[in-house]
Amino acid sequence: MLGLKLATDPRWVNIVESNIEEILTDHAWCEQKAASNAIYIIVNNSEKEELVTEMTRIALEEMEHFQMVHTIIKEKGLTLGRERKDNYVNDLVKFAKKDGSRNDALVERLLFAAMIEARSCERFKVLSENIQDPELAKFYRDLMISEAGHYTTFLGFAKKYQDNINVDTRWKEWIEYESSIIANYGNRETVHG
Ligand SMILES: [Fe+2]
Ligand SMILES: [Fe+2]
Repeated sequence: MLGLKLATDPRWVNIVESNIEEILTDHAWCEQKAASNAIYIIVNNSEKEELVTEMTRIALEEMEHFQMVHTIIKEKGLTLGRERKDNYVNDLVKFAKKDGSRNDALVERLLFAAMIEARSCERFKVLSENIQDPELAKFYRDLMISEAGHYTTFLGFAKKYQDNINVDTRWKEWIEYESSIIANYGNRETVHG
């Protein structure tokens, strides 16, 4: 799915179901971080009109997702906990190239974002197909579609703005790296855990 090499073991959903407050809290913060990432891209690339337009749309959509998760938390009588560390995303940050031009940094940031969208989308698919709660199953199926659209947008912009980076080659490196770390996950009740 979306070029990912390793699929999540559906037994991860059993872990998730043991602590719905934890997955929803972590998920809410994932949406906030996705919005913050889109805003970061806007701040650093203000002159790129099409990019700013699309990143504004994504930032709003991600905050809408945050609002949806927060509403579910409230309806279930749960509490939104404090922001969680995302070890998976921190592992991806380590792989991201920090040198290069401002344009290289943009392309790398877009690929980093596409990677997170791809895995989040896959996790939402696994949730939607395996979770017992029918409301959450539908919710995660809807979000899976939305995050797949974001994945396509980020990868499309990476290709559009590539100059001295070959995006197809670099994307293969991202996919390889991701497959080398994801085996360590699938054992916690968080979106990427
Ligand atoms: Fe989202
Ligand atoms: Fe997204």
